[in-house]
Amino acid sequence: MNERRIIWATMRAVIETDRFKRKKSGKKSKSHWNLFQSLLNYFVLLLKLSGLYRRGLRNAKNIRINKAVFEFNSLPLSFNGLKILHLSDLHIDTLPGIEDLIIEKIRPLEYDLCLITGDYRKDTQGPSHHIYPAIEKIIRNIRAQEGIYGILGNHDSYLMVKHLERMGVHMLINESIELPRKDEKIIITGTDDPYYYFTDMAIEALEETEGPFKIAMVHTSELFDIAAKNHYDLYLCGHTHGGQICLPGGFPLITHQFEGKQFFRGKWKFNELQGYTSSGCGVSAIPIRFNCPGEITLIELIRNI
Ligand SMILES: [Fe+2]
Repeated sequence: MNERRIIWATMRAVIETDRFKRKKSGKKSKSHWNLFQSLLNYFVLLLKLSGLYRRGLRNAKNIRINKAVFEFNSLPLSFNGLKILHLSDLHIDTLPGIEDLIIEKIRPLEYDLCLITGDYRKDTQGPSHHIYPAIEKIIRNIRAQEGIYGILGNHDSYLMVKHLERMGVHMLINESIELPRKDEKIIITGTDDPYYYFTDMAIEALEETEGPFKIAMVHTSELFDIAAKNHYDLYLCGHTHGGQICLPGGFPLITHQFEGKQFFRGKWKFNELQGYTSSGCGVSAIPIRFNCPGEITLIELIRNI
């Protein structure tokens, strides 16, 4: 492990064990999550009594393939038509067997690169070993010639990094890689999660990279302004699950984010920065969805000529 990773792992280990989440706007208590879980238990009981729970479970298993095309003046020509498989919020242990549904959906797709924007497990703390077989099963079924890159979400632990890397996921922890094609390149930067685990290292990662075309992977949309200021072209994130439980018309009741709240689902734009917030493949807290299907996203990058 390089020095930078050691410093990061030490900082994150400390934050993971305390009662506060670290956000750009300062420290906030994590205690609301326990209250949220208690309220959910009553909500689940109500749904079960009304018969709606089974419908919500069926909805959660009905994962869609969404296609999104982005056009850029800045995309190097040799990357014209680059296809990205974007996965987010697998929460693989919330809904047993969801890995097989995801694999079935991914199998016929064609793509060059796979980017995974965090939240691999259900809980925000505790052991993770039980999720690795299902995650590895998905990773083994991803055929991305230009690699698989991942970041951590707010449900993940720094201890998961080495396991994901062993599976073949190149984890980007406040760092960037250059992806070459012919004599051109694009930059992919991945930051640590800014919802629970924000540190200046995430901002530094977005500030220090120069390149003709830059993709930012961040678990939430909360760093949209910093990415835009640093001339990122595309920003990929998840976290909100699109609301997961929405009113008819897809109106979300909760998105679990304050900054960048307007970018809670799908394609968005902020100044020159284009972004996509995935509704996620999986579900967290309870294995149901209403009026907001889970998604696997196939993104295509086009160079404006
Ligand atoms: Fe999530």
